[in-house]
Amino acid sequence: MSGGWDESAEAWIAYMGDRGDWAREHVLDAAMLRRADGRGFRTALDVGCGEGRFCRLLRQRRIETIGVDPTHALIEEARRRDLQGQYRIGRAERLEFADNQFDLVVSYLKLIDIADFREAIGEMARVLKAGGSLLIANLTSFTSACAEDGWIRDEQGRGLYYPVDRYLDEFPQWVAWRGINIENWHRPLGAYMTELLDRGLVLRFFDEPEPTGGGDPERASLYRRAPWFLVMEWCKPSTAIT
Ligand SMILES: C[S@@+](CC[C@H](N)C(=O)[O-])C[C@H]1O[C@@H](n2cnc3c(N)ncnc32)[C@H](O)[C@@H]1O
Repeated sequence: MSGGWDESAEAWIAYMGDRGDWAREHVLDAAMLRRADGRGFRTALDVGCGEGRFCRLLRQRRIETIGVDPTHALIEEARRRDLQGQYRIGRAERLEFADNQFDLVVSYLKLIDIADFREAIGEMARVLKAGGSLLIANLTSFTSACAEDGWIRDEQGRGLYYPVDRYLDEFPQWVAWRGINIENWHRPLGAYMTELLDRGLVLRFFDEPEPTGGGDPERASLYRRAPWFLVMEWCKPSTAIT
């Protein structure tokens, strides 16, 4: 199938605008920023930074941030919007940074985009300083395992249901909306947790954030019906845990 991030970049930039989509603005950003604010993080790496919106939010907080993404058009847009920022072409599976370099590593809705997510987690853990934090926003796994297009109304009047299938498998699927056509990966939550634990990281925070504000109660109720996203903060201990 044609598509992918290079072909979808222009539509993605238009879709994100300045403030991100509704879910970023009203569900995820506040939860992510609460974990970054007031923690004394001085340096950050945003892996899969897209057009750089979250890097700009971190930089506004005086956290010196580098954004990395393999999609040239997105990195060009990030540079265009933030002339003083640092944005580089790169892939999560092979980060061109030294071990133990960053106080904070961010993975904002991009693990689902990566075929070899295990390597990506290993790399993000490697470049994190001891005592630093890996902050992850991801799609919930029951959302990525949804067999159909969202909620279905039961003909017998028993309400709405959400058909989850092949939950324990790992598989890619193409998703398309608003001119964006990309391949996303489903994995069970356990696959992510196991890899993060195997890399010696320690879970410090977990949330399935609720929507706040946004002036669209109908849309907010969709995000409350079942959480689409999770937020996790994993710490790299100073001494390895065996
Ligand atoms: C859904 S977008 C999220 C962008 C940004 N983090 C945000 O939340 O707005 C996923 C991003 O992952 C990037 N990406 C795809 N494959 C990647 C890889 N192997 N390593 C790092 N980033 C990747 C894409 O180019 C895209 O910018």
